[in-house]
Amino acid sequence: MLTPIPATLIAGDGIGPEIVDATLAALEALKAPFVWDRQIAGMGGVTASGDPLPQATLDSIRRTRLALKGPLETPSGGGYRSSNVRLREEFQLYANLRPALTIIPGGRFDKIDLVVVRENLEGLYIGHEAYIPIDGDPHAVAMATGINTRAGSRRLLEFAFEQAIATGRKKVTIVHKANIMKALTGIFLETGLELYERKYKGKFELDSVIIDACAMKLVLNPWQFDMLVTTNLFGDILSDLVAGLVGGLGMTPGANIGADAAIFEAVHGSAPDIAGKGIANPIAIMLASAMMLDHCKLPVLATRLRRGIDETLNLDQVRTGDLGGKAGTAEFTKALVSRIANS
Ligand code: NAI
Repeated sequence: MLTPIPATLIAGDGIGPEIVDATLAALEALKAPFVWDRQIAGMGGVTASGDPLPQATLDSIRRTRLALKGPLETPSGGGYRSSNVRLREEFQLYANLRPALTIIPGGRFDKIDLVVVRENLEGLYIGHEAYIPIDGDPHAVAMATGINTRAGSRRLLEFAFEQAIATGRKKVTIVHKANIMKALTGIFLETGLELYERKYKGKFELDSVIIDACAMKLVLNPWQFDMLVTTNLFGDILSDLVAGLVGGLGMTPGANIGADAAIFEAVHGSAPDIAGKGIANPIAIMLASAMMLDHCKLPVLATRLRRGIDETLNLDQVRTGDLGGKAGTAEFTKALVSRIANS
């Protein structure tokens, strides 16, 4: 009998409840010891209590220090600030870890095994934005301030370098734009090079690449990379690019990790276009729950879950529409649960 692990569960908006239910079925089949405290956020929070990030949700995560979170809707342009960004700030979840691994062979890009480590709190996402009104146009000029600190860069780079060693990565690539944003992203590059020289030299190979060249290289020859580490905005974009290399957003999980809490989620959003239709691919959030099992030092359960997903896709050939299959969420989940039960 495994020790029970209290954890917060946020089903989220759009397809969130469908894919989270599917994940719970898989975790139950594994007898994963999570004891869930169900909370709400995003549009669900606004509808229920007028707050996209209710106090009870924050209190729960403060207590459990561990959460599995479905996607949360954020209005574009105006409206409330992203609950995802607020959660990262509230719990100082400074590292975003996004592995991309080919599970279905034979696609346009085969045998991909890459990790993007993204700084999650600084850079151009700090929300220091403003408009300057001119001649009666309230939005005549828009401005944003980006801030990267030496300390923030260092703790993220240190996390990435430790992660590279712990998971046997051979090469880490720092992605930047220090030729143009010399201060804002130069500080990240400089800190990474200095940290490597001082503490990590010889433990893995380190190189660096400019973001635009990196995007091209990822499409021409992604196998030249092993782990990419970068600032907030670049990491956001690159992790979606890398998700595309392994079959789209439906296959890519993410972990937000800080000193005091860790929140696991799918990289994709709430997919309002397919919400409620029972056709969403639950794999990304299932893989996020596998990362959560690893984080809780339950690698055997994590491996069984990943193997079950692999076998359901490749041996049973049960796949959702985004992967070219015909199965709905429920059919995929049923096949996976029976794979797990027999593993
Ligand atoms: P999205 O990721 O929700 O959808 C993009 C496209 O991918 C859509 O065509 C959707 O149907 C498809 N898709 C996404 N996940 C899928 C899955 N599991 N199975 C099958 N198809 C899937 O991105 P979009 O439309 O830009 O954003 C919708 C909402 O989600 C917005 O409010 C946005 O702010 C929010 N969002 C939340 C995130 C989070 O909570 N971590 C991350 C990204 C977006």
